[in-house]
Amino acid sequence: MNKKFSVPRGTNDILPDAVPLWEDLEAKARKILKSYSYREIRTPVYEDIFLFKRSLGQTSDVVNKQLLELASNKAAPSEGDEGLALRPEGTAAVVRSYLENSMDGKEALSKLFYMGPMFRGERPQKGRLRQFHQIGVEAIGPNSTSPYLDAEVIALSIHLLSELGVNDYRLKINSLGSKEDKAHVSAWLRERLALSVSDLCEDCASRYERNVFRVLDCKKESCRKVVASLVSDLPLSDESQAYFQSVQAALKDIGIAFEIAPHLVRGLDYYTHTVFEITAGGGLGSQDAVGAGGRYNGLIHELGGNEKTNYGAIGFALGIERILLASGQSTSPLPSLDAYVIAMDAVNQSQAFALVSLIRKAGLSADMSYAGGSIKSQMGKANKANSRFALILGEEEMKNKTVALKDMQAGVQEIVAVNDIVAILKNKLT
Ligand code: HAM
Repeated sequence: MNKKFSVPRGTNDILPDAVPLWEDLEAKARKILKSYSYREIRTPVYEDIFLFKRSLGQTSDVVNKQLLELASNKAAPSEGDEGLALRPEGTAAVVRSYLENSMDGKEALSKLFYMGPMFRGERPQKGRLRQFHQIGVEAIGPNSTSPYLDAEVIALSIHLLSELGVNDYRLKINSLGSKEDKAHVSAWLRERLALSVSDLCEDCASRYERNVFRVLDCKKESCRKVVASLVSDLPLSDESQAYFQSVQAALKDIGIAFEIAPHLVRGLDYYTHTVFEITAGGGLGSQDAVGAGGRYNGLIHELGGNEKTNYGAIGFALGIERILLASGQSTSPLPSLDAYVIAMDAVNQSQAFALVSLIRKAGLSADMSYAGGSIKSQMGKANKANSRFALILGEEEMKNKTVALKDMQAGVQEIVAVNDIVAILKNKLT
């Protein structure tokens, strides 16, 4: 017997029954994103691997363990070519495109959004996939650092989640301070944790060396204990603290409830200042972050932005699969059809086929059974297709250039002229 193939581990088929749910979610999200003046950008699903390494940081788990590198271009490597990798997230590519297309010279603030698949070579479990989908936004611009923009972006993420059916959520925020603060805080953390490194888990012992911030949000109980006993607030500069206070005030002004989470640092290296994460119940289990984001002012220079320009940038991404899990949505609205055309006999099939084509060209939806069969079985198919009307063509109708039009909801039937059918259907459907 020939081998049967399965969907690759950690990926899913989104079957036709579920697609309307996704379409509905995407349409709702697009509407809200546009109401905040964000415009859609579509970047490739793979990029130069070095873009991700440079942006997300060599010490991040995403770069270290999860990048899915493409093998194909290894066959024809070009000089200095590091290779390509599937995108594990959207921010790096959006910044790449922002700079490549000189958006900084064209508009004061680029408010961009994206939706699409991301890829991480993770160990799959509930809510953790190798191909998953994000809805993300990035707001980038010269001199655009404003606490109101932080508040807008956070408010937008909450607005999206509640409109998409996630109501039981917690918003946690923190500030990592400026780039200079980060260097200082890193040294401060190492000093504080120095005597307790042996109490940390193996991963954190290495994080202590490579990126000490990550020790703060380790999920392991032993590490949490050490961190809780040694680290309360991060020692940020007055300026960074004042900025964070302004973000909090702006959030309060618009009624967004939040918790300060002094140990929230996020797993990607590009963040400075405000970081946030939204967790949800609804049976998500350990993978309970439905979305996360933060400021990344420094990344624009890292990726080649004009040295003299003072860029500001902030964004977030929501995980669509986790939104669906958290909101408990699994059934789609039933598909429906305007008209199902039934040929009473094989000889009526060509007329039925022409009628279906005519109705479709008029912008209505129609279908028929090419297998034919009894009127009863074709009526059954019309019902299953959730068709609003059935059009029945028989010998008598053909002779008189008429068709029997059955209203499937009211159960009534009338005879109408074939030439009038489109106008009648349109009239009845509005
Ligand atoms: P992230 O925290 O890595 O941030 O991912 C954002 C969200 O994507 C997560 O909260 C989660 O809902 C979803 N997600 C991540 N990994 C998986 C996975 N393996 N399976 C299912 N869902 C997953 C970012 O990606 C940043 N680019 C966000 C950002 C945008 N920061 C600034 N701008």
